[in-house]
Amino acid sequence: MVKYKNIFSPLRMKNMTIKNRIIMPPMGTNFAGQNGEINEEHIKYYEQRAKGGTGLIIVENVSVQFPLGSNGTTQLRIDIDSFMPSLYELTERLHKYGTCVAIQINHSGASAVPERIGCQPVSSSNIPSKTGGAIPRPLEKSEILDIVEKYGKAARRVQIAGFDAVEIHAGHSYLISQFLSPIYNKREDEFGGSIKNRTKFARMIIDSVRAEVGPQFPILLRISADELLEGGNTLEDTLVLLEYLNDEVDIFDVSAGLNDSLQYQIDNMSLKDGWRSYMSKAVRDKFNKPTITTGNIRNPEIAEKILSDGDADLIGIGRGLIADPNWVEKVKNGDEDVIRKCISCNIGCAGYRIGLNRPIRCTVNPDIINEDTYKNKTVKKQTNVVVIGGGTAGLEAAGTASELGCTTFLFEQKPYLGGLAREISKLPDKQRISYFPDYLLNKIKKFSNFTAFTNVKPDVKMIENLKPDIIVNATGSKPLLPPIKGLLERIDKEGETLYSIFGLLDKIEEFKKLDLVGKKVAVIGGGAVGLDVVEFFAERKAKVSIIEMMPMLGRDLDVITKVSMMSIIKEYNVDVNTNTALVEVASDHFKVKKGEKEENIDFDYGFVCLGMKPVNEGLNELQKYFSEKNVEIINIGDSARARKIMDGVREGSELTLILEKIGAM
Ligand SMILES: Cc1cc2nc3c(=O)[nH]c(=O)nc-3n(C[C@H](O)[C@H](O)[C@H](O)COP(=O)(O)O)c2cc1C
Ligand code: SF4
Repeated sequence: MVKYKNIFSPLRMKNMTIKNRIIMPPMGTNFAGQNGEINEEHIKYYEQRAKGGTGLIIVENVSVQFPLGSNGTTQLRIDIDSFMPSLYELTERLHKYGTCVAIQINHSGASAVPERIGCQPVSSSNIPSKTGGAIPRPLEKSEILDIVEKYGKAARRVQIAGFDAVEIHAGHSYLISQFLSPIYNKREDEFGGSIKNRTKFARMIIDSVRAEVGPQFPILLRISADELLEGGNTLEDTLVLLEYLNDEVDIFDVSAGLNDSLQYQIDNMSLKDGWRSYMSKAVRDKFNKPTITTGNIRNPEIAEKILSDGDADLIGIGRGLIADPNWVEKVKNGDEDVIRKCISCNIGCAGYRIGLNRPIRCTVNPDIINEDTYKNKTVKKQTNVVVIGGGTAGLEAAGTASELGCTTFLFEQKPYLGGLAREISKLPDKQRISYFPDYLLNKIKKFSNFTAFTNVKPDVKMIENLKPDIIVNATGSKPLLPPIKGLLERIDKEGETLYSIFGLLDKIEEFKKLDLVGKKVAVIGGGAVGLDVVEFFAERKAKVSIIEMMPMLGRDLDVITKVSMMSIIKEYNVDVNTNTALVEVASDHFKVKKGEKEENIDFDYGFVCLGMKPVNEGLNELQKYFSEKNVEIINIGDSARARKIMDGVREGSELTLILEKIGAM
């Protein structure tokens, strides 16, 4: 407690007293029903974060006009009264834990998708909200006035539904931001042109909201303080612009970025914890009002420092709370080593919500709705579980088994645990991935019923001696190397400069020390791993070429990483060769085929990243040997099929189902 006295000091704002300085910023989930209603699962998801000690939860953006202002595949609504009873139930349930609750009211403007809303979206002008987005229709003045009124009415509903505060979303390329930003606002009337005119719509909304909620109800304003795009508002511009918006705003929620700079809004993995708190400091210093800062903040020491340095008054932990709803409680109780920190991979959250129209999930947290309710159970009889493979899937399975009281043994043939996640985190921009194996190990080492054997590849006899009830095969994957002329005899071989991802990772410390400026680097494969290699070498000013058989790069990437990678490719002038197949590998060049044309792409360092394939050679033998012995054998993670970390982790956690099946629980 004393260690983090700033984090655990309350903050009072008008009628709202927040018990600590950790807030959950709004994050769309796609949990809402098709009609915009909140449901039981959705409430449970927020309830876990309230139970975990969060000071203030700002519920995800909710639509003030339907369908025109809708955002996301499904979205909560507050445009009519009928949504109030279930929202009241939400606030009532969260308040039981002493958590304050706000909600973010929003109109998506040009960020609405025409196929979803059934008409052309609207905006300040006719500029799409992102590259390649739909062209919107400029709003008439009468429509502007109507939307202003809708914000006010929505805020009144927010208040009656039991929320402690309302947040107006004025950032991230939604309608208000489309008036504030010179990138979008090309109007020539009283709502466009000068800074004052561009702020007029937002000003009217704030006033409309204040008129409805009264003087003592806190209003938060979320802004993209620096739009981080050429031609957009800079921090300096925003500081001027806020002079017109300051009145009646109680707390500034200082975010950053627009749609085309999404990697700064939902921060990519390589950005440091709290990297954008200087923006919140600038707003705080100028307006002398409380501010919220967010952005990859996972570490309590950094949160405390931001507060003690006076950079912000409240710390937003978004994805960090998806990953671990108990972040606050763990920090409070000194259990920091077992915080399941978000690794900022953006795969299950932003990737699912924005990219894939799925409900959000999380790479490191296999059940973001119920969290760890399964822990209330334990096995009711002696149950032995043997896990083969100490990667993240195996560790998750072993952790689940140990937690539930099984006698658990884990074998790993390498000298260390953590598998591919541990390996990949050797890349400087991917260091955060190591949080996950670190967490799994910190958790599991506390169990006396868990034993790990490293440097051991077990045979069936060794396994049998442990009298297993369940065997979990989690032996991972290895690079897929097709039979292309020259490839197998050269890759990762002494005296060659041709590497797989593992070859690179083995030598990463050497590569970090090399002067790579101007060196020719060619990467075969434009998927996630190939692009990680591109990122490493492009940032070191090598001359990088990428070769991909498909018409586009990064098909398997989440939206944030994709935007980020595309900007790296542009910034460092990476030579992109799509629709190009590898034909032959030589010591210093790849022979490739583009259409009918063959050409050589020279390299000083070549990389082949064509995906991964399962390693499961021992599985057959296991199945045969134990077939008559009443042992359940499951194959999980990459050894079943090479996929994302998230899939293996979910399968590891599903060990509970096997325990139920064999009657152990
Ligand atoms: C899945 C997802 C949905 C989001 N939806 C919203 C939203 O509804 N409104 C908003 O202002 N920001 C939204 N954000 C941005 C977050 O509020 C937050 O600013 C961002 O994730 C960075 O903070 P973090 O690193 O702590 O996650 C969203 C982020 C994610 C990952
Ligand atoms: S999916 Fe990845 S980025 Fe999203 S919350 Fe989970 S760990 Fe964080």
